[in-house]
Amino acid sequence: MQQFLQILPFFKKHDPNEPLLRVENIHLKFGSRPILQNAAFNVEKGTIVVITGKSGSGKTTLLGIISGLLRPNKGRVFYRGHNMMFWGDFRKSYFRNRRIGFVFQFFNLLSDYTAFENIILPASFNPFKMGISKRAKEMVEYLGLKKIRNQYPDTLSGGERQRVAVARAIINNPDIILADEPTGNLDDESAIDIRNLFKKLRDEGGKTLIIVTHDHRIVSIADMHLHLDNAILNTVSHDEWLSIIGGSMGPGIEIIESGEGVPHVIEKGAAASAKGAKVAKKAPAAKAKSAASKGAPAKKPAAKAAKGAAGKSVKKVSSRSK
Ligand SMILES: Nc1ncnc2c1ncn2[C@@H]1O[C@H](COP(=O)(O)OP(=O)(O)OP(=O)(O)O)[C@@H](O)[C@H]1O
Ligand SMILES: [Mg+2]
Repeated sequence: MQQFLQILPFFKKHDPNEPLLRVENIHLKFGSRPILQNAAFNVEKGTIVVITGKSGSGKTTLLGIISGLLRPNKGRVFYRGHNMMFWGDFRKSYFRNRRIGFVFQFFNLLSDYTAFENIILPASFNPFKMGISKRAKEMVEYLGLKKIRNQYPDTLSGGERQRVAVARAIINNPDIILADEPTGNLDDESAIDIRNLFKKLRDEGGKTLIIVTHDHRIVSIADMHLHLDNAILNTVSHDEWLSIIGGSMGPGIEIIESGEGVPHVIEKGAAASAKGAKVAKKAPAAKAKSAASKGAPAKKPAAKAAKGAAGKSVKKVSSRSK
């Protein structure tokens, strides 16, 4: 009964003025080393947020805080207006199982289970799993996994494994998908495939994705881009991102138009044209605007802090992100 009371607020209608996630003034140190200083941003429903930063800068740590796995030293995270800092363990577990789907760089599939069994696995922890099998079958169809559903992970290609992992992440119909370097272990064609799948989940499924990545193809579909440098988190525009990475999105990606904070790209080469993926859909700049402005201190939430604390603006950050 007490456990049910803990999760009751999840079933309340949520305040439409509240963003899906509100991250406020997060500070985190490991020992004496600051990992996050005054991190603040809002995430609106149905948007893609990417997080970039050098290896060891704290990106995975930030995902851990958002998902309630890690407690910051200071600051608050609100999910639909509810302060996660007050949640007990059961409520946090429920949140992670039902409201968040995780996608990892190395897929993390169970080798003794078929693709279909892997997909359906998180639903076995879901007490409201009526109709899950039907939903899983529909999803397998929707994600184009029908042919491989009875294969074991070690017989699947990297791209197929990641598609299965994405299906597993959304089986419980979560609001938020957290992905940590989801294309880090994929070839070009599979990475584009996953990128397109993420777009589909946002554009058709209304899902919210928070993706740690250094893949420019993923960055190119973001509604908001956060960059972590020296424990300071800033939103960065497309031009600032180019300046950070040294002026080029890399081979195979050419910028044809620059939106507000969001690059629009053409992908060149065989992999892209084989998939027919020529032009990335114009990302909804308005969404980015509202995501960055609603309740967040400014378009660049921590830009001032960055100048003050680190003594430099994002544009002056010269090191290559990973
Ligand atoms: N539990 C912990 N105790 C102490 N230090 C930690 C702990 N977890 C992470 N760190 C350190 O915090 C820093 C940030 O780690 P994190 O894994 O978030 O980096 P990252 O940006 O995800 O790096 P990568 O791109 O390599 O995955 C690293 O230097 C790491 O060694
Ligand atoms: Mg990491």
